[in-house]
Amino acid sequence: MEKQAALLDLEKRIVEDKNLPLREGNLVFGEGNINCDVMFIGEAPGFHEDQLKRPFVGRAGQLLDKLIIMVGWKREDVYITNIVKRRPPENRDPLPEEIEAYKPYLKEQIRIINPKIIAPLGRFSMNYFLPDAKISRDQGKVFRIKDKLIVPLFHPAAALRGTGTLEALKGSFKKLPAIIKRYDALVAAPHIHEEPHKELSKEQNKELEQEQERLL
Ligand code: URA
Repeated sequence: MEKQAALLDLEKRIVEDKNLPLREGNLVFGEGNINCDVMFIGEAPGFHEDQLKRPFVGRAGQLLDKLIIMVGWKREDVYITNIVKRRPPENRDPLPEEIEAYKPYLKEQIRIINPKIIAPLGRFSMNYFLPDAKISRDQGKVFRIKDKLIVPLFHPAAALRGTGTLEALKGSFKKLPAIIKRYDALVAAPHIHEEPHKELSKEQNKELEQEQERLL
C-alpha cells in the first residue's frame, strides 16, 4: 500500500479502536513530510494540540518550529508525532499502560514513514526507545536501533523552563543535518549503540535486539 493510504488506514484503525485509553480527547495522529529523513516523537498532546488535532502547536511547538528553522529546514520537511496520541487529562504524564496501548500504532507509523533518524523529544519518548538512557546524560548522542538512528533531545517544554536546557537543545539540534549526512556510516556502526554505556556480551546484544524488534 502506498504510504499516504497506509497512514490513513492506520489513523482509521486508531479511531475505531474502542479499547484505547483517553478516548474522551481528540486524536492527534501526527503530521508532516511522510518521506522525511527525521521524525520527531513527543510524549502526548497538550491542550492546544487537542483543540487543533495537530502535534506541537502550543508554546513548546513554537520553539520546535524555531529550532527546525534554525537548522535551515521547514516544519513541512519533517514528520512530527507523539507516543500517546490523545491528551492525558490536566496534561499529566502519560501512564505506562497508556504508552503500552498506543505502542503498536506508533510502531506501525514508524514502519510506514521509515525515517532515517528518530528524534525522541524528552525522557518519556527517549525511554520508549532506550529504556536505560538518561536524558541529561544522553541527549544529543547518536544511538542505533536496526536501520534507524535515534537521537534523543530535551523536550522543548523543558527548554522553555531553563536556559541551560535550551542551549543544550540548540546545540544538539544543530548536529542533526550532519547526522543525516553521516547516516550511512553511522548505521553501519558495529555496536547497537554508537556510544554504549557498557560493552554488551553477545547474549546481551541478542536480548537487546529482540527487545528492539518489538519496538521498530
Ligand atoms: N508536548 C508533547 O509532548 N507533544 C505535543 O504534541 C505537545 C506538547
